[in-house]
Amino acid sequence: MSKNTVSAPANIAFVKYWGATDIERALPLNSSISMTLDECVTLCTAELIDGAPHRDEIWLAEPDGRLAPAPPEFSHRVLAHIERLRKWAGREEGVRIATRNTFPAAAGLASSASGFAALTLAVTRTFGLSPSPGELSLLARRSGSGSACRSVFGGYVEWRAGEGAEEDNHALPLASADHWDLRDVIAVVEIGPKTVSSLDGHRRAPTSPYYDRRRELLGGRLDRVRSAIRHRDLAALGPVLEEEAIDLHLIAMSSQPSIFYWSPGTLEVLRTVRELRQEGLEAWATMDAGANVHVICDPDSEEGVAERLTGLASVGFVIRDGVGNGPEAESQALF
Ligand code: PMV
Repeated sequence: MSKNTVSAPANIAFVKYWGATDIERALPLNSSISMTLDECVTLCTAELIDGAPHRDEIWLAEPDGRLAPAPPEFSHRVLAHIERLRKWAGREEGVRIATRNTFPAAAGLASSASGFAALTLAVTRTFGLSPSPGELSLLARRSGSGSACRSVFGGYVEWRAGEGAEEDNHALPLASADHWDLRDVIAVVEIGPKTVSSLDGHRRAPTSPYYDRRRELLGGRLDRVRSAIRHRDLAALGPVLEEEAIDLHLIAMSSQPSIFYWSPGTLEVLRTVRELRQEGLEAWATMDAGANVHVICDPDSEEGVAERLTGLASVGFVIRDGVGNGPEAESQALF
């Protein structure tokens, strides 16, 4: 049986997807814009299993090459997505997959975006299909992990919340990675999975008394981010990044029931990023639904940012990443 191995990257949202009109199919209440990462990727190998219709196997590939059976809480959504892709492809065969993240599992960055983008690519290829980028993005979105639809593209990516048909809702590239070399120094202050999933966060978002106000502000922020990307203007992008990150957490904290993703380390990093700016380094912080902080900066500032953040008591380690080109076919299979 022939195998297909792909890598798909994580992404960091500049304008956050938070709240859905249809949580199962991840139809967003608001548009979002992200930067695709380069180093933080999920690898996924898939092959068909002969004579086993609808029977799939999910394995986790360890860094030393061994395979471990995936725990049920991990397999559950993966199996549901394989079934969805099988139906889309009009096929019956079972699929064997193995998957591994290049970033430390303990980093609390366990990215369902890279995971579901990689799974979508590897499985559709294994069924002998070559979906268009838009179709891949749509299929990745239907995994339920909506941000996966942005990981199908490299560079800077927009996912619009539309009034249109469900089958038209997918992300689109805004600019390629070589348009603007931005770096992302990720300060890991907390390891392990987050306590409240982003799916629950999306569900609760509209219960925040600040949610409607956030939606009023989003149009202006999206325009500012698009324009900053177009003009490669970090001084214009940075303040929006921080407004968006604070807003996401404000909504989470004021949802019913409320969600606190921050840890004391989050605040230490946020304060340090402000200090770095006062010292002349162009560095801006953002966070997804977790305690760890992504510090967006230009290549000249990266070394200084990484050095300072590494030295903080609450930072376990930093990951130095940056804008990347998107998914790739890999020659080395995981099994
Ligand atoms: O795609 P989900 O359901 O994992 O939600 C992603 C939510 C955020 O990471 C907080 C924001 C985003 O746009 O990536």
